[in-house]
Amino acid sequence: MLKTSISTVLSEQVNAEYYSAYLYLTMSAYADRAGFKGVANWLFVQAQEELAHGTHIYQHLLERGAMPTFADIKLPQTEFKSIEEVFAKTLAHEQHVTELLNNIASVAMRENDHATYNFILWYVNEQIEEEATADELLTKIRLIGDNSALLYNLDTELAARVFTDPFANKTA
Ligand code: FEO
Repeated sequence: MLKTSISTVLSEQVNAEYYSAYLYLTMSAYADRAGFKGVANWLFVQAQEELAHGTHIYQHLLERGAMPTFADIKLPQTEFKSIEEVFAKTLAHEQHVTELLNNIASVAMRENDHATYNFILWYVNEQIEEEATADELLTKIRLIGDNSALLYNLDTELAARVFTDPFANKTA
């Protein structure tokens, strides 16, 4: 049975992951309407991953005998000025998510909950790649500037991203 302090932070993380999905959907819609179909695809896949992240924590809560707590998912930013802004927000958001996950790891350690600590480590490690990818995309878009040929190439590259369930072979 989970301690309330643990089920609270895990439930909050379900909400945060679903918020992330919603944020990436707003960005994806912006990119689609701006003509960047590849960027839109990359962000849509990102949103699907966030839903998988949140759902996996939700399932873990139930498996540990805890009742998830539900709360409003706040409205994310819906207007953007450029693809550069989108990737800058992506990096800042992923850095924020890393802080949330580190906090869960700290609470788990404090509560001597090794199972939760072990569970959340997958997420903590995943953030290394999440931040690195966002940083790389932001750097690329800044280097490209308004070179339309290079922008087109990047958009084509991002069109190739495909969603694969990160937990397909895992149990909660
Ligand atoms: Fe659920 Fe983008 O980390």
